[in-house]
Amino acid sequence: MQLINTKKELKSYLSSQAKTKTIGLVPTMGALHLGHMSLVKRSIGENDITVVSIFVNPTQFNNKEDLEKYPSTLEADISLLKTASNKIVVFAPSSSEMYSGGITSKTYDFEGLDNVMEGEFREGHFDGVGTIVEKLLSLVTPTRAYFGEKDFQQLQIIRKLVKITNLPIEIIGCPIVREANGLAMSSRNERLSKELRKEAAYIYDILKAAKQKFGTKSANFVVEWVKEQFETHPNFKLEYVKIADVNQLKPVIRKNRNLKYRAFIAVYAGDVRLIDNIAL
Ligand code: PAJ
Repeated sequence: MQLINTKKELKSYLSSQAKTKTIGLVPTMGALHLGHMSLVKRSIGENDITVVSIFVNPTQFNNKEDLEKYPSTLEADISLLKTASNKIVVFAPSSSEMYSGGITSKTYDFEGLDNVMEGEFREGHFDGVGTIVEKLLSLVTPTRAYFGEKDFQQLQIIRKLVKITNLPIEIIGCPIVREANGLAMSSRNERLSKELRKEAAYIYDILKAAKQKFGTKSANFVVEWVKEQFETHPNFKLEYVKIADVNQLKPVIRKNRNLKYRAFIAVYAGDVRLIDNIAL
């Protein structure tokens, strides 16, 4: 296991490796769990070198308190990574290392992908994500970079980012890893009480039922049905539910056989904001 904290050291390590070696990059904000590990394992299987970045990116947090509450567990993260391989390169830079010119975002034209869902409710979030991911991709110049479908909108925005910036990198989307009860794994799950964490299985149960209904009902019907299920639930507050096509993330008005759709959801369980989605 190599732990590297500076861009200079990382560059020099990577340039000391044979040019023919393939590199997989897994960008994370740490507090690693089995969802992250599925990306790491996939990268290890597909590349000669795997770089896992651990950096809580300040520019993607629209809520200061959310940034302050974000867990920092570097030692535990490294131990977990070691269970997958002891050849991983961990890149854990400081904020000033990544933002030497000041903590600000670039502005991107993601062609509307960033105006809906997470973009609508988290102002500036995707410019922040784009800024840090572009920095990491340019620094590491990996063969492949791995992102989870848990953040499906982010995944599609990264695909767009790579097109906009002309970076010759393959973006690999990986399926959502869930807890035994169906709750999508997230570092935020740790902030749920034991009871709420159990109950939060409800979110995936509703998504599965929505998928079933989408077979015979209109998108609008399904969206309204999901809203009703949350209105009557005392412990969850629905922020949004959307059914959108996977490429443009535009809400479906009329189903088109040639398009693929997903249902997306953001829910507050107490003060913890959870997101999830399902292929329809
Ligand atoms: P983070 O939330 O740490 O997630 C890192 C990667 O792990 C993302 O690609 C995310 O989609 C994936 N991931 C998280 N939970 C998952 C799960 N249950 N199943 C499958 N994949 C999962 O996403 C970020 O960090 C940041 O925005 C980042 C891309 C690192 C930029 O700062």
